[in-house]
Amino acid sequence: MEKIKLAVIFGGKSSEYLISLHSATSIIKNIPVDKFDVTLVGITEEGKWLYFPGNVEEVDNNTWFKNPGCCEMILSPNATLKGFVKLNNDRSFETLRVDCVFPVLHGKNGEDGTIQGLCELSGIPYVGCGVLSSSVCMDKEFTHIVCENAGVKTAPFMSVRNEANLDTKTIYEKALAKLSLPMFMKPANTGSSHGISKIRNYNEFVEGLKLAFKYDTKVVLEKTIDGFEIGCAVLGNDELMIGEVDEIEMYHDFFDYDEKYHSTTSKIHCPARISDELKSEAKEIAYKVYKALNCSGLTRVDMFLTRSKEIILNEVNTIPGLTNVSRYPSMLRVGLKMGYTEFIEELVRLAIGK
Ligand SMILES: Nc1ncnc2c1ncn2[C@@H]1O[C@H](COP(=O)(O)OP(=O)(O)O)[C@@H](O)[C@H]1O
Ligand SMILES: [Mg+2]
Repeated sequence: MEKIKLAVIFGGKSSEYLISLHSATSIIKNIPVDKFDVTLVGITEEGKWLYFPGNVEEVDNNTWFKNPGCCEMILSPNATLKGFVKLNNDRSFETLRVDCVFPVLHGKNGEDGTIQGLCELSGIPYVGCGVLSSSVCMDKEFTHIVCENAGVKTAPFMSVRNEANLDTKTIYEKALAKLSLPMFMKPANTGSSHGISKIRNYNEFVEGLKLAFKYDTKVVLEKTIDGFEIGCAVLGNDELMIGEVDEIEMYHDFFDYDEKYHSTTSKIHCPARISDELKSEAKEIAYKVYKALNCSGLTRVDMFLTRSKEIILNEVNTIPGLTNVSRYPSMLRVGLKMGYTEFIEELVRLAIGK
């Protein structure tokens, strides 16, 4: 059988650039080379697209773009080409057809519908959610609106746009009345807890806004949910497979960047240490959220379980952390007995079969 020509895109102009390198390293190391013919395309933090002919270690240690074999490489929106245009360093160019694109990119310019739009124009199947679901899931306000409308419980929230002469005192009073203290403040479109603050007073509100507006022009304020975090992996297009429910055990204020990637005091339990009834309920909610947001391929649905055993949606990650020890692949391993390599193959199969 002919090998599938797969382009793995990594890096990206995103605050989650480094996380992408970790995910991509793991994926590149585990792609079965007897079935796939892999082309690596890196995007620098500045947004430059490069063909990368080097070793995976260079991706892992973020030196990949220094490889002398790198040259410019862009995904063509020309749907009759179905591939990339490679600009060789001697300024000659060649075209490279591919069967599937795997955007191993997190956050802005990768998980938000932008790359997905380019893939749509190119006519090449791609791993993961489509344009609309990617962008809606990336935006925490729109995720709330769509899911609430589908009957899924989410935290009470409001949004603030970065306008000239913002009356922060009035907004604070409104937020106080609706959400009380402490409240969570998040840039609408980020991940990895970048720009997120827990607000306990007006001073923190003003400082929090300054920080969050560095990441986005829209900020979402949420009532603090008193409980712990659980997550559920959903995989598929029409027929869905649901992974195990996991749990984040934490001793800190919230699951911030350090905790996510260095796990200093937090611990992931998979399966979650909750009753079978609650796990089933969490899986049903994850299924409902996936359908409501029109997801395809994969998505990790993050929820809170409150002290009164209520499950509330937190957020949805259409390209969650994908290293072999990340939460999503672990949920599939534990819940579906699906190994990491099988998972990668399944993602490509789902992309091509869409
Ligand atoms: N409404 C909330 N109540 C309690 N904790 C929250 C709330 N929103 C976010 N958090 C905490 O902040 C972390 C990051 O928020 P999240 O919305 O998941 O953003 P990100 O996309 O950066 O992961 C969560 O994992 C959780 O620990
Ligand atoms: Mg999160």
